[in-house]
Amino acid sequence: MKNEKSLILVIDDEESIRRLLQKELAAKRREIFTAAGASEAMKMVRNRSFDVIIMDLRLPDTSGLDLLIKVRDASPCTEVVMITGHGDIDTAVEAMKLGAYDFIAKPFNLDRLDLLVEKAHQRSRLSVENRLLRHSASYDQGPVQFIGNSKALRDIQFLIDKVAPANIPVLITGESGAGKDVVAHAIHDRSSRAGNPMIIKNCASLQKELARSELFGHAKGSFTGAGESQEGLMSFAHQGTLFLDEIGELPLGVQASLLRLLETQTYRRVGEKEERRVDIRFLFATNRNLAEEVKEGRFNEAFYHRINVFNIVIPSLCEHKEDLPLLVDYFLTKLSPDGTTYRMVQGAMDCVLRYDWPGNVRELRNVMERSIILAENGIITKNCLPHELLVDAENSESSITLESVEKQHIFKMLDFYNGNRQKTADALGISRKTLYRKMNQYEKEQA
Ligand SMILES: Nc1ncnc2c1ncn2[C@@H]1O[C@H](COP(=O)(O)OP(=O)(O)OP(=O)(O)O)[C@@H](O)[C@H]1O
Ligand SMILES: [Mg+2]
Repeated sequence: MKNEKSLILVIDDEESIRRLLQKELAAKRREIFTAAGASEAMKMVRNRSFDVIIMDLRLPDTSGLDLLIKVRDASPCTEVVMITGHGDIDTAVEAMKLGAYDFIAKPFNLDRLDLLVEKAHQRSRLSVENRLLRHSASYDQGPVQFIGNSKALRDIQFLIDKVAPANIPVLITGESGAGKDVVAHAIHDRSSRAGNPMIIKNCASLQKELARSELFGHAKGSFTGAGESQEGLMSFAHQGTLFLDEIGELPLGVQASLLRLLETQTYRRVGEKEERRVDIRFLFATNRNLAEEVKEGRFNEAFYHRINVFNIVIPSLCEHKEDLPLLVDYFLTKLSPDGTTYRMVQGAMDCVLRYDWPGNVRELRNVMERSIILAENGIITKNCLPHELLVDAENSESSITLESVEKQHIFKMLDFYNGNRQKTADALGISRKTLYRKMNQYEKEQA
């Protein structure tokens, strides 16, 4: 099942306001993120689809209206609630005209804010659903596909196939949006546990004091506020897979208990003596450098070694740009609302190839989704791409085409294998004949 949590972003330069809202808006089905300014916020918006954004009309690094326009542009289904101060009424009205959902004045009436956020969330759900209805029914359903034909991604496919049937824990690392979730799902789907549940928990969303009880469960009355006894995630994941995302955020104390479970397959509920036995396949993911965290004393060393038995490192998208055309095609087909075939013109593809994709595949997906909406007659031109992709293009002198990426890659591999053509061809997954043909072609171009 898809994550039903609502994602909320609070943008305000005042730390006290960010903290207040984070605390007051916290609820079981909400995940709250915060940003202090526009550029930080835009990075997050490009990486996640927020349901509701609450933002201050006055920000240090840009005007709230400018940011509103950018946010609505990058993420049309997100509803925005503006925070206004004294004398901001005219601007607030302007913001509503530009598509803000509503505004709330400082000082806050927190109950009203909560209600506003709830209503804004409902509205954003509706517009997402409307769009989904218009889009094909298969949107985002079915097993996730892992797309990529570069050497780097084929290596990862190979590792997934090898490790899936084994019962060992896997640590998946890579930048945000690089595909850690996709890899975790692929491992579960290809394991013998595929018919059993895969439970996904983001450790960043665990409340520190309750983390242990949420994971392991607790006995009746075992701590203040613990009413009835409760099962933990471990019992739900029995015979299935437990995917602990953002494992770097797991509180240190809980790491020790989890280490014990990994070693003995047994655990205790909070407030109980009785040992319970479970059979769980563990997957972990993080975009942090855990070795570094261990050095800094923020991560348990023994736990680190236990979860790092088998590490799959997903490269950033800019390290496998060869896959861009394939990924573009994949998303244009997958996200096509009505089966229309979308096509990207070469000029636009050049921009896609030149851009660095700091938000990785997730950002690419968002950009493709956006360009489909803006496309005329199924044709995606530069005009359908967001500003950042074009700025980069203007600044960059050289024009990188797929061909030149391929060429560079081939010569890099030849170098790596000391000119051995058979080995190079094998590594590239092409025949020696094809390699010769391509080398000839590229050498002629150079002559
Ligand atoms: N190789 C791939 N093939 C197809 N889709 C991909 C691939 N890699 C990533 N995606 C898609 O890109 C988006 C982001 O991927 P994913 O959620 O797996 O990233 P992540 O590494 O878990 O990010 P985060 O650190 O933010 O959790 C998803 O929509 C996913 O389906
Ligand atoms: Mg993820």
